[in-house]
Amino acid sequence: MEMNIALLPGDGIGPEVIAQAVKVVKAVGKKFGHTINFEEAPVGAAAIDLTGNPYPDATHDVCLRADAVLFGAIGDPKYDNDPKAKVRPEQGLLEMRRKLGLFANVRPTFTFPSLIHKSPLKLERVEGVDFVFFRELTGGIYFGEPRGRNEQGTKAFDTNVYTKEEITRLARMGFEAAQKRRKLLTCVDKANVLATSRLWRETVQELAPEYPDVKVEYEFVDAVAMRLIQWPKAYDVLITENLFGDILTDEASVISGSMGLMPSASVGTENKLFEPIHGSYPQAAGKDIANPLATVLSAAMMFEYAFDMKAEAQAISDVVNKSLAEGIVTEDIAEGSKAYKTSEVGDWLAENL
Ligand code: IPM
Ligand code: MN
Repeated sequence: MEMNIALLPGDGIGPEVIAQAVKVVKAVGKKFGHTINFEEAPVGAAAIDLTGNPYPDATHDVCLRADAVLFGAIGDPKYDNDPKAKVRPEQGLLEMRRKLGLFANVRPTFTFPSLIHKSPLKLERVEGVDFVFFRELTGGIYFGEPRGRNEQGTKAFDTNVYTKEEITRLARMGFEAAQKRRKLLTCVDKANVLATSRLWRETVQELAPEYPDVKVEYEFVDAVAMRLIQWPKAYDVLITENLFGDILTDEASVISGSMGLMPSASVGTENKLFEPIHGSYPQAAGKDIANPLATVLSAAMMFEYAFDMKAEAQAISDVVNKSLAEGIVTEDIAEGSKAYKTSEVGDWLAENL
């Protein structure tokens, strides 16, 4: 098969980790006989420097032309401490999600046998953890209007808005995923306080009879924050709104032992984007030390979700597991043994695939 992939390396360690994913994707192409074309485009602070816009139209066109987008990270410390900056790299990410219609962010948490001891949780709590969040990504308080300040600048407001339609399309993805997994769906909300959450709960309750094989649980977000740490094995598929999902998926991503390991997919009806959960990690940028595995595993998700190629995805996760077992790892997980460079890990993966 021939496939066109848009590469958006972005900021910080983005370019380094994307470069390793490209090596692995090329190796997959060779092994399985696919022609893979790449087209690169700037996003985030890198795009602001070049064009003044964190998500330029030309970059959007590259994404629209592609069958899938592989994205690194966005963010630059020079904007973080300047709340008055007019243009921010993160706006590029939000624009990209909105314009590409990426309404569902799929963030799995699973464990790696050889790394399980790195988890901040006790072994018996984390062994066998395997759940996935479906975070709504183009609605809620991230996009709701009105937002802003009063004239004096002494009062600020954001608006949380959800339509039934937005909730339904995200919830259906969750139900369908649960059907293919352990058939448990948890709707995470704050229905005891928020009107939007009550609409979430009501909508999910209405859909549930269409999926009689799926058991549905409703839990408040604060309780989920606690139970994720106490007993993460209790979960299978979780669905939630944009802001709750942002917070809980960061919490979830460290359960497995390192944030450098967890991939994600952002999907809509037309477009699909794949990215590591970790951010731009500016302290490590350009040092060739960042862990490329989350990005490499995001490429595995790309083969599975964008191209329905399970064997290709499996080949990538197998070689990642092999690299972990053999200690071909970056310094964040090396623990006293030899730490390999980002680029060395990428080379090793591509050679051993
Ligand atoms: C994420 C990030 C973004 C978000 C930021 C960078 C805008 O934290 O992808 O989770 O809040 O969605
Ligand atoms: Mn986040």
